Amino acid sequence: MKKFRIASLAAVAAASLVLAGCAADTATEETSTAAAGETVAEALRACVILPDADAGTRWEPGDRPALETGLTAAGYDADIQNAQSDTAKYATIADAQLTKGCDVMLLVDYQGAGAAVAEKAKAAGVPVIAYDRPIAGADYYVSFDNFTVGALQGQMIVDGLVAAGKDPATASIIYSSGDPSDGNAAMFFDGAKSVLDAAGASPAFTMEGTWDGAKAGTLFEQAFTAVGGNVDAVLAPNDNNAASIISILDKNGLTVPVSGQDASTAGLQNVLLGKQYGTVYKPFQLQVAAALEIIAAILSGETVTANKTLDDGTPFIAIDPIITTAELVKDVVADGQATAADLCTAEVAAACATFGVE
Ligand code: BGC
Repeated sequence: MKKFRIASLAAVAAASLVLAGCAADTATEETSTAAAGETVAEALRACVILPDADAGTRWEPGDRPALETGLTAAGYDADIQNAQSDTAKYATIADAQLTKGCDVMLLVDYQGAGAAVAEKAKAAGVPVIAYDRPIAGADYYVSFDNFTVGALQGQMIVDGLVAAGKDPATASIIYSSGDPSDGNAAMFFDGAKSVLDAAGASPAFTMEGTWDGAKAGTLFEQAFTAVGGNVDAVLAPNDNNAASIISILDKNGLTVPVSGQDASTAGLQNVLLGKQYGTVYKPFQLQVAAALEIIAAILSGETVTANKTLDDGTPFIAIDPIITTAELVKDVVADGQATAADLCTAEVAAACATFGVE
């Protein structure tokens, strides 16, 4: 039985060394050549499907390079594809990957498309790891503790309101959430609501959930009109949605506490500028390192001890997320998850100086 042990970026650095050292043993298989009957070592194939390539989301700029580096360093042949917000494409990619052969699949669900792929993979004897988003039928789910992610978002709203001298119990708060087809969205929302409820807060308006940043902007415009422009705070589920919401608040000359997650470039800039109270930072390397540990264990026939279990029984390896307010942006930069060059553009330069981002 494998005990899960990744807990920090420092641990990741150490673990990747171990994994890289084991690569020759763990990430290869013996294959017979037809001609001579000799055996050659072939790298094991890790097939990965990312959900979308929207600008500002984490997948292409964050997870892809972290997965590419981590899987390759551990000796795997990484086949990383993107479904480009298309469930049919998701299925086609999966079929092509499975035909070519996968020793393990790491799937980030897109609007429920992951479940059918997990079923096919399992039927073909390929283990499936639901990466970041839950997928029915997966062997393991590796993600951040998403209820806690939401709780941190709720805390940002409460802290932001209190700092602005407003009582959360009477403040006019717009609640928004992520795409309901993503199992994470409910976990984020439940976590946020637990903190907001405890502070006596209630929604002045609840928006339809989406991960589409442009759509979030349209929905927020409608919400803004519905509450007659009376907005004291906005519970936003991620930085991408927050950015669209903030641009509308800007247009209306309002600066209020807004939550987020992903520590994206736009999100960190909004945090530095005081337009977003904070972002929940989820270091990609931690998630990749956890996935690598699970893969190595599965492929050597071990089971992994998860620290949580989903309602459907899937073992859940949950990593602790990190709240990031303006004072803490420099830590994200120090981790190498963002660069001062990207963050400190002309408009943000003064804030970077104030908060020691260099
Ligand atoms: C992820 C978030 C991301 C969102 C939209 C969620 O499942 O956990 O990090 O912002 O999807 O892509």
